[in-house]
Amino acid sequence: MIPRPENPLVVALDLPDLDAAAGLAERLAGRVGMLKVGLELFAASGPEAVRRIAAHGPVVLDLKLHDIPTTVERAARVLGRLGIAMLTVHAVGGEPMVAAAVRGAAAGADDAGLAPPVIAAVTVLSSQGGAPLAPPTSLASLAIAAGALAVVVSGGDVARVREAVGEEPCLVVPGIRPEGSEVHDQVRVLTPGAAIEAGADYLVVGRPIAGAPDPVRAAREILAAARRGAHRNRR
Ligand code: C5P
Repeated sequence: MIPRPENPLVVALDLPDLDAAAGLAERLAGRVGMLKVGLELFAASGPEAVRRIAAHGPVVLDLKLHDIPTTVERAARVLGRLGIAMLTVHAVGGEPMVAAAVRGAAAGADDAGLAPPVIAAVTVLSSQGGAPLAPPTSLASLAIAAGALAVVVSGGDVARVREAVGEEPCLVVPGIRPEGSEVHDQVRVLTPGAAIEAGADYLVVGRPIAGAPDPVRAAREILAAARRGAHRNRR
């Protein structure tokens, strides 16, 4: 079991340029739970992005791997050597693929003498409206059975998934928007307090922090709202 995080905030460093992302990470260091390197930054700067960002806090590498199990296991092994705290895969890849990611990432971390990263399996993209391709609760259960210690769930599904999987798995929730802020392309949104109250462990926030005039202040306000949610959640 992963201990409940002291700081639930994960900031998505969705910037095209590593210097800008590292600058933001430096300002947020010690104020957020984890720093997320996603597709844009990894496409721009690759493993170097992980190394530089990791100097400022634990890194979530959000590449949402989805391929045949052998390919995913080999890629996860290489990524596991980088020193990441969490690696994402798509749960729709199936149980053998998620299990391959767990094995690969653990082997890679072991190669480098590091602790294995947590595999977080994405159930449904929080930008996806309409009916999901598969029920998020089933995808979450499949991923946990395969050894994933965390699942990524969208706002509207948190309470249902928490009820289905129990207290132990870590729930990571993107599509977080402070009260009254712009939604962008996200459809399944929740406020920070409501997400924590519904059972989220980590909140992933990108544009409301990275695009704010004062990102440190925005992070502080979102964290305060999340902590008010934690008071209402009696877990
Ligand atoms: O800017 P915003 O807060 O919408 O950013 C959300 C971040 O979470 C993005 O980096 C996106 O890739 C990621 N994410 C998501 N939905 C998922 C999984 C990850 O929005 N299901």
